[in-house]
Amino acid sequence: MNALFDFILYPLFYILPAYIANGAPVIFGGGKPLDFGKKIGKSYIFGPNKTIRGLAIGIMLGIATGTLESIVPGFSYMLVVGVLESFGTHLGDLTGSFVKRRLGMESGSSMVLMDQYLFFVFALAFAYPAGNMPNVYGLLFLVILTGILHKLTNAGAYVLNLKKVPW
Ligand code: CTP
Ligand code: MG
Repeated sequence: MNALFDFILYPLFYILPAYIANGAPVIFGGGKPLDFGKKIGKSYIFGPNKTIRGLAIGIMLGIATGTLESIVPGFSYMLVVGVLESFGTHLGDLTGSFVKRRLGMESGSSMVLMDQYLFFVFALAFAYPAGNMPNVYGLLFLVILTGILHKLTNAGAYVLNLKKVPW
């Protein structure tokens, strides 16, 4: 069929709820940490950068994105996909922070691959049961795009003073 649609446009449309759920906390997050400052041993459970507001607003805006997309004729399933991706994104993000803290890594420190891709892998794994995943070329495009966007958005957030570190 239409290669531009299959390999680029549809993958973007499909993953948008996860990207929004993941990016929103950088802008709207902050406040009380999800772990209430509690530690396991010497390190925080998740750390001060994982906040209740970031989680709540991230999931809400991710679901709102999927809901809007589901209005497009033929794409009603994006409502379910959006919900699954939003929860998956944040479970992946928290898993990453949890693992980093267990390894004794400071909040905001960089861990290659996990920082970029754990939310993405979780989002796709959660949404998989709802079907309609992009094809393998589309997924490959998203893998490349996610790596690039992660770099660009973090550098942008740093320039805009939304983040303390440029990664
Ligand atoms: N954020 C938030 N609440 C969340 C997730 C993220 O408020 N549940 C905000 C925080 O301001 C955080 C920023 O989004 O600093 C970027 O998130 P991320 O890069 O995932 O976290 P890090 O600061 O790198 O912390 P960690 O080392 O735990 O991954
Ligand atoms: Mg980070």
